[in-house]
Amino acid sequence: AVPDTTPDERYDLVVVANRLPVDFTTDDDGAISWKRSPGGLVTALGPMMRASEGAWVGWSGAADTEDDPFDADDIRCVPVGLSAAEIELYYEGFSNDTLWPLYHDVIAPPSFHRQWWEAYRKVNRRFAEKAAALAKEGAVVWVHDYQLQLVPAMLREMRPDLRIGFFNHIPFPPLEIFSQLPWRRQVVQGLLGADLVGFQRAGDAANFIRAVRRLTDLTTRGQMITVTDDEARRDMPARHVRAAAFPISIDSAHFDALAQTPEVQARAREIRAELGNPRVMMLGVDRLDYTKGIRHRIKAYGELLADGRLTVTDATLVQVASPSRENVDAYQQLREDVEGLVGRINGEYGEIGHSAINYMHHSYPAEEMAALYLAADVMLVTSLRDGMNLVAKEYVAARSDDQGVLVLSEFTGAADELGRGALLCNPHDIDGLKDIMVRAATMEPRESRKRMRRLRRAVLENDVARWSQTFLGVLTALPSRFPDRERSYDADAREP
Ligand code: G6P
Repeated sequence: AVPDTTPDERYDLVVVANRLPVDFTTDDDGAISWKRSPGGLVTALGPMMRASEGAWVGWSGAADTEDDPFDADDIRCVPVGLSAAEIELYYEGFSNDTLWPLYHDVIAPPSFHRQWWEAYRKVNRRFAEKAAALAKEGAVVWVHDYQLQLVPAMLREMRPDLRIGFFNHIPFPPLEIFSQLPWRRQVVQGLLGADLVGFQRAGDAANFIRAVRRLTDLTTRGQMITVTDDEARRDMPARHVRAAAFPISIDSAHFDALAQTPEVQARAREIRAELGNPRVMMLGVDRLDYTKGIRHRIKAYGELLADGRLTVTDATLVQVASPSRENVDAYQQLREDVEGLVGRINGEYGEIGHSAINYMHHSYPAEEMAALYLAADVMLVTSLRDGMNLVAKEYVAARSDDQGVLVLSEFTGAADELGRGALLCNPHDIDGLKDIMVRAATMEPRESRKRMRRLRRAVLENDVARWSQTFLGVLTALPSRFPDRERSYDADAREP
């Protein structure tokens, strides 16, 4: 059943994501404010949402908040409320302690709890109901990421007239790993409610199609899956679901321009001066997450100091680790490990005026990030597994001076596109990583310039506007099961 909402609030494009583009915060005096959400999703969808008459359905980031729609940054936001218990079971539990580790190659062991699964289902239904109530007849609904994999099928049940797209921002695991999930069939069925299921890499789409073949009786042909879930409704023609890769990007031109402002350039020089003008500044920027390979990177750097291949007066490492999912055990453990390691290396090798590692457990505004990227000679992206990694793309977009070297893990989605300009590494191979870090730190400017130009072409051409246009273009061009029905969303008519 579709719940009642204000009948005047109906949209032809509805984005559904776990988080709203802004986060709700209350300061010590109880004053309420909104700040930009963590993660790459806002960066990715903000420009497109501002350009279209759409609504964004998501969670505010806090427990039991008001659920009146509001506008933030020119985006219509429709909150979905979560109780404190739901945050624990659905968000921290099933999303980030079951699915997140499972989908990232079980780097950390996933926990399977039936109570978490129940909460996941219940919360997914709430998101689906909200979207169902907001979408106009024939509208497009675009559902995002692993927190909401059941929404497509729930939504199709309520509103068979909709065009439903789903995009998975994180990896989709190989069948042998996915099969551990006790609710693997329900998750596949949930995703198959969409008309188009998008992934970061071709390999992720292939993993999904293989899971469909092995866990259901459905037939697949290339990227197409034929769904026959409407046996009971003979009036419904067979349905096709397409699964394909749509590698996400950033607002490259915006980042490029930001990094060229005099303020950011001055701040970049200031950062280097404050670090004691080292010959080589290396930089890591990540959410503090065990998938990012932060320990591997710091370990390699520490060994280079121990071996005397680098010295603290010559080379410094700046590590920005933004706080993330701090109530989940694995994240608390990681923080202890990383901070212990940083402390030991600084104690061992630091000198007055030259610490080995400048570690910051904060997040920073885009201007400061751009200045850090500009200041850094070597950018270290050493994820053990990463859906895409937008930090790699931001670094490249910031380097209009064609300088800087990107060290990039093979295990990122970004390596598919940036592998020819970056120095690829296997972060598990500490000796190999050390050699690549030294190579990056000593690369001839001629070579690094050539590589950076190549990287910049890839990042500036394939920006996030193109990503969302391509996805929505494919979604709306799929043959309709209801050819006579009106469609309210036309992807070609709006250019972000
Ligand atoms: C990744 C996920 C996003 C998520 C972000 C931040 O990028 O793909 O869905 O929003 O991390 O994580 P958080 O748990 O704070 O939303």
